[in-house]
Amino acid sequence: MHMIDVNPTVWDRLLAVRQGRSCTCCGRWSADETGALDLYGPLARRDLGPMVVAQIGQSLDGRIATVTGDARDVSGPDGLAHLHRMRALVDGVVIGVRTALHDTPRLTVRLCEGPNPARIVIDPRGRLPDDAPLLARDGTRRIIVQAVDRPRPDGVEVIRLSDRDGMLDPAGILTALHATGLSSLMIEGGGITISRFLEAGLLTRLQVAIAPLLIGGGPQGLTMPSPTEKLSEAIRPETRAFSLGSDVVFDCALNADALAAREPLHARPARAVRS
Ligand SMILES: NC(=O)c1ccc[n+]([C@@H]2O[C@H](COP(=O)([O-])OP(=O)(O)OC[C@H]3O[C@@H](n4cnc5c(N)ncnc54)[C@H](OP(=O)(O)O)[C@@H]3O)[C@@H](O)[C@H]2O)c1
Repeated sequence: MHMIDVNPTVWDRLLAVRQGRSCTCCGRWSADETGALDLYGPLARRDLGPMVVAQIGQSLDGRIATVTGDARDVSGPDGLAHLHRMRALVDGVVIGVRTALHDTPRLTVRLCEGPNPARIVIDPRGRLPDDAPLLARDGTRRIIVQAVDRPRPDGVEVIRLSDRDGMLDPAGILTALHATGLSSLMIEGGGITISRFLEAGLLTRLQVAIAPLLIGGGPQGLTMPSPTEKLSEAIRPETRAFSLGSDVVFDCALNADALAAREPLHARPARAVRS
C-alpha cells in the first residue's frame, strides 16, 4: 500500500505538469510525496496523448448509494478531496444523465486549487432540465451528448450522435469529445456509464475508491452488460493501492498507455512538455 502526501509543493508541481511546464521526476521527494506524484502524475501528463480515467467511490460491500439513492457521502473526506484533485487535473468530466438528475452535481473543483474541467453529460433522450446546476454559466465549457434534436441553453455545446436502440457508441462519444479539444477525460459515474466505457475497452485507467462503511443494499458499483462467466477470463489489471487517509483507492492500469504513464516523465520522448 502506497501512502500519499499532497502538500502544496506537490500539488503545485502536478498543476505545472498539467500545463506542460514541468515533470514528475525531478526534485527531492519524500516517499509519501512520491506516492502522490505516482498517483496523480499520470492524470496530469499531456505528453502521452488522450487519456480516459474512470473513478468510482464505493463502500466495502461494493455499493455506490443506499436503497433510497442517498449517495452524497459514500466517500470519506479524503476520498472527496481525491475526486476534486482528479477533476482539477483532467480537461473534462463526463457523467450519465441519471447521476445528473439524481445528484444534481456541480462538477466543479472546490476542495483544492486548480481549474474547473469542462462538464459533460451523456443525455441521449434530452432529459436534463435547462436549469440543472452543472449547466450554470460560469466560464467553464458545458457539453451535452444527445441523440435527439433538443435545443439547449445559450453557451451549452451540443454533440448530436446517432443512437442504436437508445445506445450511443462509447467510442463515438470519445472521438467527438476529443475532437472538441478535450484530451484527458474523467468518467465520474454512475456505474452504467462507466461500465459501458469499460466494456468497450476504452478506459486507460480505472480508479475504485473504497470507503470503510457497509451499506447492505443499493446500486452496485460496476455491473457490465456482458459479464465474464469464467474467473479465468476476468479482467485482471495491473493495480496499485494508495491510502488516501479515510479511503483506499485502487488505481488500475487498463491498457499500454496507462503502463507507459507510470514511467517517469523524463524517460520518454516528450511531445508537449517544455524543458
Ligand atoms: N459513488 C460514486 O462514485 C457515484 C458517482 C456517480 C453516481 N453515483 C450514483 O449512481 C447512481 C446513478 O448511476 P447510474 O449507473 O444509475 O446511471 P448513470 O451512469 O449516471 O446514467 C446512465 C444513463 O446515462 C445515459 N447514458 C450513459 N451512457 C450512455 C450510452 N453509451 N448510450 C446511451 N445512453 C447513455 C443513459 O440515459 P437514459 O437513461 O436517458 O437512456 C443511461 O441510462 C445514482 O444513485 C448516483 O448517486 C455514485
